[in-house]
Amino acid sequence: MATKGKLLILPGDGIGIEVMREVRRVIDWLSKKRGIDFAIEEALVGGSSIDAYGKPITDETMKIALEADAVLLGAVGGPKWDNLPFEVKPERGLLRLRKDLGLFANLRPAMCFDALVEASTLKPDVVRGLDIMIVRELTGGVYFGTPRGIETLPDGSRRGVNTQVYTTEEIRRVARVAFDIATKRNNKVTSSEKANVMESGILWREEVTHIHDTEFPKVELSHMYADNCAMQLVRNPKQFDVIVTDNLFGDILSDCAAMLTGSLGMLPSASLGAADANGKRKAMYEPVHGSAPDIAGKDLANPIATILSFAMALRYSFDLGEEAALIEKAVENVLAGGLRTGDIMQPGMAKVSTGVMGESIVRALDKLA
Ligand code: NAI
Ligand code: MG
Repeated sequence: MATKGKLLILPGDGIGIEVMREVRRVIDWLSKKRGIDFAIEEALVGGSSIDAYGKPITDETMKIALEADAVLLGAVGGPKWDNLPFEVKPERGLLRLRKDLGLFANLRPAMCFDALVEASTLKPDVVRGLDIMIVRELTGGVYFGTPRGIETLPDGSRRGVNTQVYTTEEIRRVARVAFDIATKRNNKVTSSEKANVMESGILWREEVTHIHDTEFPKVELSHMYADNCAMQLVRNPKQFDVIVTDNLFGDILSDCAAMLTGSLGMLPSASLGAADANGKRKAMYEPVHGSAPDIAGKDLANPIATILSFAMALRYSFDLGEEAALIEKAVENVLAGGLRTGDIMQPGMAKVSTGVMGESIVRALDKLA
């Protein structure tokens, strides 16, 4: 049987395990109804790996991840492992995956489903139909630049130091990811920095412009200072399509954009690395939420963020954009039919479990295809 490629599934801990079960239903559906199959491996990460092997990720699992076309991760962490030293905590498994796969571009979509328009804190007209993508540089900038630290000055007072550093290559590679994605969407990119007050921002603007002019001249490019971008995101978010920005501004702007559309349980993400000779990028897909220990094991978690993360994997790693859109449409239809997990519950809607939400999405897929 020909497969579309290698997929590594890492459910992790807590609700990661429950929501991944629902992704499996969608994977089974693709196989049975569309003849689309993947070479799937499943392994432990985070606390579940610590319990089994004494470390948050094994070398063997890391090897499979490096060979995979895409990694799909649930969530890691929980109170059971909170008192371990930092080097062996569940989160270290995630950090090693991101580092060893070289995932420098973090994709955070903010999509507003029509059925959830009323759940936004913004006016329905402002968010209805919203579909934007924030591309955040993930491995450079002020979180990693040196010098850094806290020092004591001769007068006894202290000084905290962090340094924003970007090289041309770091800017160019994330710009390429953003333009590349724009060509699969609406050919429009807004680049955001503070070139008015930061030299790293001046370089950012120059290099993004260079990649645009030399490699993606057909994409519409504009530049916007990050503070203005934050204002525009809450004033009129639909003016944007793809936003590309650095690590720090991206951290803030992506959280801000995400909350335009509602619950953590709805938010997918992707992290991409360098392209190989065939244009294939290392990639990891995961929901934005964590392991939610407060509701873990109770069949209460919303599986939609993880199902939408899988849809992103189809679109960006397996060239199955049509199937990705089908899954997104199925989610939209289930929400329009009034089904809600607890986190997105609204008056007059029907509260359902993790399992029923997953089953309903598969049934909606059946009706669409
Ligand atoms: P969290 O995202 O796990 O939960 C925050 C709140 O949102 C909780 O009340 C939870 O019940 C709710 N929630 C989250 N996802 C949900 C879903 N799919 N459906 C319904 N409700 C949902 O963040 P928290 O509580 O700060 O962290 C819990 C654990 O997760 C910690 O150990 C933390 O380190 C870890 N974590 C892991 C992440 C990852 O694996 N990427 C990301 C964030 C936190
Ligand atoms: Mg953040």
